[in-house]
Amino acid sequence: MAKDFYTAVEGRRSIYGISKEVSISDDKIKEIIEFALKHTPSSFNSQTARIVLLLGEQHDKLWNLTEAALRKVVGDNNFAPTEEKMKSFRNGYGTVLFFEDQQVVEQLQKDFALYKDNFPIWSQQSSGMHQFVIWTALEMEGLGATLQHYNPLIDEDVRKEWNTPAHWKLIAQMPFGQPTMAPNEKEFKPLDERFKTFK
Ligand SMILES: Cc1cc2nc3c(=O)[nH]c(=O)nc-3n(C[C@H](O)[C@H](O)[C@H](O)COP(=O)(O)O)c2cc1C
Repeated sequence: MAKDFYTAVEGRRSIYGISKEVSISDDKIKEIIEFALKHTPSSFNSQTARIVLLLGEQHDKLWNLTEAALRKVVGDNNFAPTEEKMKSFRNGYGTVLFFEDQQVVEQLQKDFALYKDNFPIWSQQSSGMHQFVIWTALEMEGLGATLQHYNPLIDEDVRKEWNTPAHWKLIAQMPFGQPTMAPNEKEFKPLDERFKTFK
């Protein structure tokens, strides 16, 4: 039975231990992404979110190219922890790449000059909502995921490898797979410091 909304929101965690042994079909993963793209809000209903789903070898390729890019920056000395981290992502089954279409954002800035400064912010906020919907939906299907940000370091490599339009700006990478580790202990700040009600 599907989990209720509150259980799913609470259950969404950063899961760093993931494997390729998933029981979910590729079609179901695609369905989740299509659902999120269709139903997640965007400012002015501009639908600026763009997604590339990398599965199997294509997913491996992303983490290979990210590792190579990082090696150039970090150097061979002390690269072992980074190498381990890249391996842990590559161990997963797939990665969701989140983009925002800058052509649409720029057109909105021209069309609605009053909100010019807000459109890039709203675009980021909408991307975050897409990330949350997909992260939570993957969790509901028994998968584990994390949210990563190797952009802008890997932007050019990604563009060349998957031929994505130049105006698609890479925002985040979400590697996912079968969970092999429990999430880390999580601390919660007191809610009375974070929330006020007035009536
Ligand atoms: C906007 C945003 C950016 C994040 N960036 C990263 C990141 O680059 N790498 C990473 O491992 N986790 C990243 N996280 C995950 C957070 O560290 C994580 O959600 C937080 O510590 C709470 O843990 P939980 O996801 O298990 O609930 C990010 C989360 C958010 C919302």
